[in-house]
Amino acid sequence: MRFEEANRIKNLPPYLFARIEKVIAQKKEEGVDVISLGIGDPDMPTPEHIIKEAQKQVAVPENHQYPSSVGLLSYCQAVVDFYAKRFGVVLDPKTEVVSLIGSKEGIAHISWCYLNPGDIVLVPDPGYPVYSGGAILAGAEPYYMPLTLENGFLPDLAAIPEDIAQRAKMMFINYPNNPTGAVADENFYQAVVEFAKKYEILVCHDNAYSEVAYEGYQPLSFLQIPGAKEVGIEFNSVSKAYNMTGWRIGWAAGNAAVVEALGRFKTNIDSGQFQAVQYAASVGLTGSQATVAANNEIYRERRDIVVDGLNAMGWHLAKPKATFYIWAPVPKGFTSASFAEYVIEKAGVVITPGNGYGDQGEGYFRISITMPKERLVEALERMKKTIGKVEF
Ligand code: MLT
Repeated sequence: MRFEEANRIKNLPPYLFARIEKVIAQKKEEGVDVISLGIGDPDMPTPEHIIKEAQKQVAVPENHQYPSSVGLLSYCQAVVDFYAKRFGVVLDPKTEVVSLIGSKEGIAHISWCYLNPGDIVLVPDPGYPVYSGGAILAGAEPYYMPLTLENGFLPDLAAIPEDIAQRAKMMFINYPNNPTGAVADENFYQAVVEFAKKYEILVCHDNAYSEVAYEGYQPLSFLQIPGAKEVGIEFNSVSKAYNMTGWRIGWAAGNAAVVEALGRFKTNIDSGQFQAVQYAASVGLTGSQATVAANNEIYRERRDIVVDGLNAMGWHLAKPKATFYIWAPVPKGFTSASFAEYVIEKAGVVITPGNGYGDQGEGYFRISITMPKERLVEALERMKKTIGKVEF
């Protein structure tokens, strides 16, 4: 028997990395030594002190029961302490922080809290596919804000048509940016706060890469900007900073009414994150940040290898200040999809086609440097052998 899917799921494309996983599995079955530079999934282990805390907490019987859906107060306090120390932002752990089963979960569910069918949501293009995926599931209509090289991959707020701005209820932004690696300064965030106030738009800032930055650059929190808490919230997680993507724990922080609505939504559909994981993440946020700095130094070296390697083949790429992504145009004669296919077929290297992040990503590809140096060097050698010198 084949059951008819609900319209909301019919309209939903398979998740980008689920498609890429299939390609990897198929190539591996064919015996190809695949080097996957697709998903941004840290390859280094979770720091020892975090693992030790998890091991201790797993043995505590009260952690075996239902957790609080919105997070242990001590976990929310750890987020608050992290924000105070890292960004100088003051938050109330009881009303301005909610735990999430990874920030992806909250990013998808916030649309359900604030968007009715037919509502407009402003979404960056290219952008993390969950912004539009969650909105489409809620029946809303994404209006895509182009991120172009000319604009430093920042949305041009003045270019958003007046009627769209009037109808928009929510806006997603994300800096340091996935997939472009771009960063935003205070002026940009200030302009976002003013825009949001003028049009009464809820701003959802995804700050997942706040701790992955190079050469002294320190990404900002949206919540550092005066007035930000009035108009928005920030999503973040321990995934990228502490190599904890598999642990599934994040948070949303900021506007108390929005935090409450998201928490209320969650109490109705999930039962929160395993408390042992909450305790472990707390130790990550409040403990020594030495591993973050050490890992960033490793990523910096990898970034240089990849950018220098591609530039030696004919690209003209600048080195991103943050994130573990390299965003690059495809050579002449290729589309995003045909280049990704060519590279996997001829070199056994998986790259992410830029159009997977939206129409504006067409003509680009993304490399994730979450692979050991030796594998990155080999990937570049294989690409050089099959592509040679590139032209644009
Ligand atoms: C990516 O590769 O774009 C991200 O790692 C995916 C994710 O965070 O879910």
